[in-house]
Amino acid sequence: MHPDVSEILYSEEEIAQRVSEMGKALTEEYSEIAGDQGVLVISVLRGAAIFMADLVRQMDMRVEMDFMAISSYGNGAKSSGVVRVLKDLTTDIKGKHVIIAEDILDSGLTLKYLLKMLNTRQPASLAVVTLLRKKTRMQAEIECKQIGFECPDEFIVGYGLDYAEQYRNLPYIGILKPEIYYK
Ligand code: PRP
Repeated sequence: MHPDVSEILYSEEEIAQRVSEMGKALTEEYSEIAGDQGVLVISVLRGAAIFMADLVRQMDMRVEMDFMAISSYGNGAKSSGVVRVLKDLTTDIKGKHVIIAEDILDSGLTLKYLLKMLNTRQPASLAVVTLLRKKTRMQAEIECKQIGFECPDEFIVGYGLDYAEQYRNLPYIGILKPEIYYK
C-alpha cells in the first residue's frame, strides 16, 4: 500500500468486479434501448478517464467514446457549479444514446451543469453512471443509472482520483492520510 494512504476502501479486485457488473448491466439495458445504433460514452477529464477505460471494455456492444474538459470556477477544492468548458465534445450528440461515465459524484454540481448543457443538444437519451457517490448531506439530485459504490465522506485517492494531481495511478481507492493535505 502507498505510504500516504491510511486505508484501502476498494481494492483493485473489488473495483474490477463492480465495473464488470456495471458494464454487463449497461450492455443488457442499452442493447434494448439503442439496438444497432449503440451508445456514446463520454467522460470528463481527467479523473474519470480511468473508470471509463475499464467500463467500456466490459460493454459488449457498439460503443463510441468522447471526452470533455471543464474547469470549475470557485475556490479549488469544492465545485461551485459554475463551469467553463475547456474542451468540448468532438461528437455531435444529437439523436445519440449518451452515457456520462463519472468517477465521483460529490456535490453533484458538475453533473447538474453538464446534464443541463448536454440536454440542450437533443440526444436520444442521456444518462449518468458513476463509480462512486459520496455520502454527503449537500448533494444535488442527480439520477444515476448505475452507482458503483456509496462511499464515505473522506479524502479519497486512487483509480483516477487525485490530490494535487498525484495518486491517480493507484490501482485501488484509499483514504489519504490527513498529514499529507494538512502539510
Ligand atoms: C471531480 C470528479 C467530478 C467532480 C465531482 O473532478 O471527476 O467531475 O469532481 O465533484 P462535484 O460532484 O462536487 O461536482 P475534478 O474537478 O477534481 O477534476 P479531475 O477529474 O481532473 O480530478
